[in-house]
Amino acid sequence: MNCFSVRPNILYFDHFDEFTRKFLIGPKDLLITNQKIADTWFREKIKTAALIIPSDYSEGEPSDQMVEYIYNDIRYTAYDRVIAIGGGSVMDIAKLFSLKQITPALDLFQKSAPVIRSHGLILVPATCGTGSEITNISNLNMISLHTKLGLTDDSLYADYAVLIPELLKTLPYSYFAISTFDALCHGVESYLSPAATPFTELYSKKTIDMVLKGYMEIAARGLDSRFESLDNYLLAGTYGGIAISNAGCGLIHALAHPLGSQHRIPHGQALRILFTAVLKCYETYVPDSKIRTLTAYLSDLLNCPQQNALERLDALIQTILPLQPLKTYGVRQTDLHTYARSIQSLHQKLLNNSPYQPTLKNIDEIYRSVY
Ligand SMILES: [Fe+2]
Repeated sequence: MNCFSVRPNILYFDHFDEFTRKFLIGPKDLLITNQKIADTWFREKIKTAALIIPSDYSEGEPSDQMVEYIYNDIRYTAYDRVIAIGGGSVMDIAKLFSLKQITPALDLFQKSAPVIRSHGLILVPATCGTGSEITNISNLNMISLHTKLGLTDDSLYADYAVLIPELLKTLPYSYFAISTFDALCHGVESYLSPAATPFTELYSKKTIDMVLKGYMEIAARGLDSRFESLDNYLLAGTYGGIAISNAGCGLIHALAHPLGSQHRIPHGQALRILFTAVLKCYETYVPDSKIRTLTAYLSDLLNCPQQNALERLDALIQTILPLQPLKTYGVRQTDLHTYARSIQSLHQKLLNNSPYQPTLKNIDEIYRSVY
């Protein structure tokens, strides 16, 4: 039984210039990033590489349509390496452009086309939480299916995951909040996963510990205190990525997928809506599962009685990333049952990674409770 692996080489640089000196970015590179990062960090320094800004092609989370548009632009561009600098969306796209066959993306995701790696891949996170630089997963909104799908394949592992805390200095607070919350969810869901091992639990618990201690610091000293610990948040995101690449995500991520694809709710915000409701569902239906050891761990971290751990956790998160009910995002109550059914048919793998196999009625109840 293979119980733990970390595939990409991990490099750490204090400054972006050290990264460019090491990798000598040039004309045989395809750079994928966002406008702000390009303008701030390298537009004047790296002029020879082909540059792709995904938001130039369509708005919102990456989709199969966006991949098609980008592919049409670069299909005659020769490149040896794909270098992505950005958040999870940028890295999701970059992983696909390291493959031999890129479109139709739906064929790749439904495994009716071969997933074959043909280019180098260097992933540099510029948010602190998706952990995508470590994982072999690409998530894409499939327009025709009205949901996000995940492609998991070892060909999607980066050659290098490069951590540069300096990049986080210009990250707006809203992105900081939703990306660190994503990391927290990765820690929690991988810890609760039936696929967890003692090795993954180390990373899961460390992720939870680092994010929550950071949140407590922010709650006590204000939002700007985060700038003193950017390296910690960056590491927490990568630790969470290591945990989910081995133990997987679960029900919270499954329920978040239709909200992201249909209503453009940012990934971390969608997780925030569902987080406490799903954990309370576990407390109700499987109280003797690992939810018990999780709440014991949380009660130590939060210095509160175990039976109050989820409430105390939610109150702390509320100071960082306030909860907004689903209806404020334009979700119709009549949509919820459709989403619940799509989760059962399209995201069984994520449901299998949960400590409890929810029925359709359970999923409906969770959605309604956060509506
Ligand atoms: Fe996530």
